Amino acid sequence: MRHHWQLHIIGGRRLCGTVEVSGSKNAALPMMAAAILAEGPVRLEQVPALADVDTLTLVLAELGVAAERSSQGNLVLETIDAEPVRASYELVRRMRASFCVLGPLLARRGRAVVSLPGGCNIGPRPVDLHLKGLAALGAEIEIRHGYVHARANGLRGATIRLSGLRGSTVTGTANVLCAAVLARGETVLLDAAQEPEIADLARLLIAMGARIDGVGTATLRVRGVDRLEGATHRVIPDRIEAATMALAVAATRGCATIAGVVPEHLEAVVAKLRQAGCDVEVGEDCLAVEATRRLEPVEIVARPCPGIPSDIQAQWMATLALARGQSRVTDRVFPGRFTHVAELHRLGARIEMIDGTAVITGMERLSGARVVASDLRASAALVVGGLAAEGETIVAQADHLDRGYQQLDAKVARLGGVVRRGPISDEEQCESVREREQGCAS
Ligand code: EPU
Repeated sequence: MRHHWQLHIIGGRRLCGTVEVSGSKNAALPMMAAAILAEGPVRLEQVPALADVDTLTLVLAELGVAAERSSQGNLVLETIDAEPVRASYELVRRMRASFCVLGPLLARRGRAVVSLPGGCNIGPRPVDLHLKGLAALGAEIEIRHGYVHARANGLRGATIRLSGLRGSTVTGTANVLCAAVLARGETVLLDAAQEPEIADLARLLIAMGARIDGVGTATLRVRGVDRLEGATHRVIPDRIEAATMALAVAATRGCATIAGVVPEHLEAVVAKLRQAGCDVEVGEDCLAVEATRRLEPVEIVARPCPGIPSDIQAQWMATLALARGQSRVTDRVFPGRFTHVAELHRLGARIEMIDGTAVITGMERLSGARVVASDLRASAALVVGGLAAEGETIVAQADHLDRGYQQLDAKVARLGGVVRRGPISDEEQCESVREREQGCAS
């Protein structure tokens, strides 16, 4: 990824006020891919303005799907050329979620050639369950020269278990569900991902004419239909962004309202914040978070939904670095997702990795420093840490933030945080060129 800016934070201010969250990245991306299935325009509302959304728009453009975006966050997607079936390595390696075009292409166009996404900073990310599911629906799948070549002469329903050693797969469920909706007969997906983003995708598919029962549960029953129409759908709010903001408020001992959320999507996080001694009031579509004193230590185990999401494990760690005692953080979804630990050390956090668990000894204060973001959620953790630390923190490679947070810096500023985007340093420039030359995937 090319780096354009770094984030300067002056820490130590309590975050107070009201902030509104944007639409969900991880709901919007598979929905955009699902537009391939429709015979008419798919209009998505509350699509966040993110680099990842732009990347998928490029992938879809290569696949003959035109996108029109309005300033209100609406995105209309419509197939203008149903011939192309190839998603190239250049784009898929930039963003793994591009792999979500596989199921829709196969179901609608009978053929797909999609690059394998390759490695990433948060650990191995196999796609065996995606392929197993599509093969069970009757696809012929081959891997050649780094690409998945999938072909089907009419998919047919099947019973498919979508879990592996680490539980269910989120984008794997999206891929197989998007293929099953056009398969002949009934498909039963067992151990389907229960994440709200998958339920939201299912609601879009239903609006397009799909027949799906069990939405939001681990068993999805799909009765295949012959065709799907266009539809209009509003993307759910981003629960990861909401949780990140709530943790930034807690870490700075602030008092703020996180508005425009679906509280049911945040239950595990709210329960944990309360356990840590934070006051959280849950409104109809908002959370009021107040932390008047140092947090108590807690144990965080990131798990698939309904557990605490892996995508906020890093932000929890930054917050707990200031708790009054020893906390533990384990990630059961991506057990090696800990690149943020070494950078949090630079802010003065005391974190020791013991058998895959981060043991965090809370400090009375953190102190600002120059740090480097390694991926999207690691960047968010460094922002949380920097906001809570004394003095200046400079987060290099902060472009990662724009992949998944719509104007996080502006939102933080609205709560009284002192943040500004600055140009990258010469050193960063060299790093960025080196990374590009090495073909680093994120
Ligand atoms: N897994 C397999 N085989 C597969 C697929 C997954 O073994 O075929 C394993 C993975 O290695 C991992 C676990 O299953 O250990 C769960 O992975 P999953 O497939 O659910 O992750 P994903 O679909 O690739 C989505 C999000 C991630 C989020 C994870 C977990 C999108 C676009 N991405 O990834 O989001 O961390 O689910 O909730 O929805 C992020 O937003 O920063 C991000 C990385």
